[in-house]
This record gives sequence, structure tokens and C-alpha cells, in this order.
Amino acid sequence: MSGALRRYWHPVGWEHELGPAPRATMLLGQRVVFWRDAAGLPHAAADQCPHRGTALSLGTVDAQGCLVCPYHGWSYATDGRCTAIPQQTPGARIPERAHLEVYACTPRYGLVWVCLEEPAAPVPAFPEWDDPTYRHVACEAYTWQCGAGRMVENFTDFGHLGYLHDGLLGTRDDLVVPAHRVRTEGTELRYELTMTVPNTNDQFAVTGVTGERGLQTNSYVLSLPYAIHLACRYHDTGAHRTLFFAAQPRSETESTGYCFQSRDFDLDADPEPFAEFQAVLAEQDRPIVESQRPLEIPLDLRHELQLPFDKVAIAYRRALTELLGQPAAGSVGNSSVGAGSVGAAELEPDEAVRGVS
Ligand code: FES
Ligand SMILES: [Fe+2]
Repeated sequence: MSGALRRYWHPVGWEHELGPAPRATMLLGQRVVFWRDAAGLPHAAADQCPHRGTALSLGTVDAQGCLVCPYHGWSYATDGRCTAIPQQTPGARIPERAHLEVYACTPRYGLVWVCLEEPAAPVPAFPEWDDPTYRHVACEAYTWQCGAGRMVENFTDFGHLGYLHDGLLGTRDDLVVPAHRVRTEGTELRYELTMTVPNTNDQFAVTGVTGERGLQTNSYVLSLPYAIHLACRYHDTGAHRTLFFAAQPRSETESTGYCFQSRDFDLDADPEPFAEFQAVLAEQDRPIVESQRPLEIPLDLRHELQLPFDKVAIAYRRALTELLGQPAAGSVGNSSVGAGSVGAAELEPDEAVRGVS
């Protein structure tokens, strides 16, 4: 997978699921181990012992917080230094090459985040996390057989909301996507649109809407490469619901989605219906997204059909192209996607299809 992705933070698991034993995961096609040190802080490293390539995730963590290989018992400190080779005579020098490759690792929002190289951007923002007026529900993580870009685009694809999620996120009698524009700023895409939503309170108690349908404004911040913050405002109640979503790119063909649903209404409500709502939506999406070919989004805009209401996907693919340092093939409109840093660009409502053949 592209080396540029190694410079961004990706979630690798829930913090509460990380106990005293090390855990294995995959990130960008690479085996990664993460574990807690003696103070409880998470750390991450290549899941491969420099001695004989054994998976360190099969090992243990000692009282000093060192990772101990299950094969010959060599141990590694959180900075990658080998601290013990029990087969050597006491006091013998530990070779420099007995060094484990370690990665930046930080806990945030109840997730463990890992960056395989020097971070190019901070962990994506989730401002409500520290806001006491909100309640958060961590939804069940889901692993799909697809690239993370497909997962992200599905999360933000307006065209399918009323069709695939008829009665939940929209209705089939109202499928026209409202006009909106996308602004690309650095490594973020921002866009907003107002839509009618069905009242799901009977089944899921999610919207807080009282009538049959409500008007909702959705404000999105898509943090490249694979995170989205969505703030929903319900016009008739003034209540807010936010979704924070981040995908873990395990490989080019497998990804895990982590999602929080947060609200500033019904604060004492049972969290279960909120999580269940997201689980129902995810299970409607999964077979669709896993069926898409290619398994990862094609960045050349000519490879799939782009219509004006697809402008978020267009802007996303263009920004991702630039982030990955790939030549911009099939770019559309006047906004520049040349080499170099991702600049500010705006895609107007009617600009999307120009130049796409
Ligand atoms: S393979 Fe890990 S210590 Fe030998
Ligand atoms: Fe969906």
C-alpha cells in the first residue's frame, strides 16, 4: 500500500479491549503488535521478532512493560531496544541489530491509534468527546472485505441514504440529493447539506424528531485519509447528534470501521438502541460495499461514472490522489490537484461532471 498512508494516524482497536497480553492487528498490509506498558500506556511495534521473525503478539508483557518473544524469550523495551537475551552469558553485549521497529501510538477517544512513520497530521478531531453535554455510544466495530476508501465513501454517500436505508436515513420518494459544495482545506474536506429524515423514534429512538419527518442539517469534516466527523442538527428540536467514524486500513482488501454516535438529547436513555441503529445500517451497507469492484476506490475519475451529486467522492478521490503523491488522472473542474501539498479547492454544485468523459 502507498507509503504516504504510513504518515497518518489510524485506529487499530478499542483501548478497553487491550488487556495485559499483547494484541495482533494488521495495518496497511503489515503485521502490528500493540501492548500496554507498566503505566498502562499503549505502544505499537512490528509484529515480528528481529531474531527469527516470530509474531511477538504470541508473547507476553513483563513487569517492566517490555514485550517478550514467545520463542526464545528476548525482550524489547517500548523504544524497541532489546533488553534481554537469556541465551547469552550474563553481561554479554546485546547486538545493535537486535532492535524492534516501534511505531507512534496514542490512546484517543477510547481507541488506540498508530502511525507507522512521522505523523503528517494530528489524530482526526472529535470535539464532542470532551463536551459534558454529550453522551457517546461506541458502536460495534465492523470488518469488511474492502479497501478503507470504499468504507469512507459509503459513510458519506448521500445518494444511497434514502434508497438503501429507506425509512431509516431517508425515503425512496425523496432521493434528489440537495445542492452542496465541497471545500478542500489541507487534509480536510468540508461540506454541509440539509435533508429530510424519517422519524425513527419508534424503532430506535435516534433522531429525537417528533413529527413524521424532520429537517436535518449535516455538517461533515472528512479528515484524510479515512476519518469523518458528521454533526447533525435537527431543525425542529435543536438537538444534535454526531457521528465520528474512522476506518482502519488493514490491507487493500480488508478494513475495520469504528464509529461513535453522540447526542446532546435523551442523555439518560439506554445506549443500546443507538448502537443497534448503526449496526442495522452497517449490515445493510456491508454486502453492497463488499460487492464493489475494484475492492478499493479507483482514483482515476474516468474509471467510474461521476455525476454532480457525487462531488464529495470526486473531491475525496482528488485529495487522496494528491495525498498519495500519484499523478492526477481524469481530474475534473478548475480546482488544482497538481503535485505538492494539498491546497484549498472548492467544488461548486454544478462543477462536478465537467471534464469527465
Ligand atoms: S524468535 Fe524471538 S527471540 Fe528468537
Ligand atoms: Fe449506508
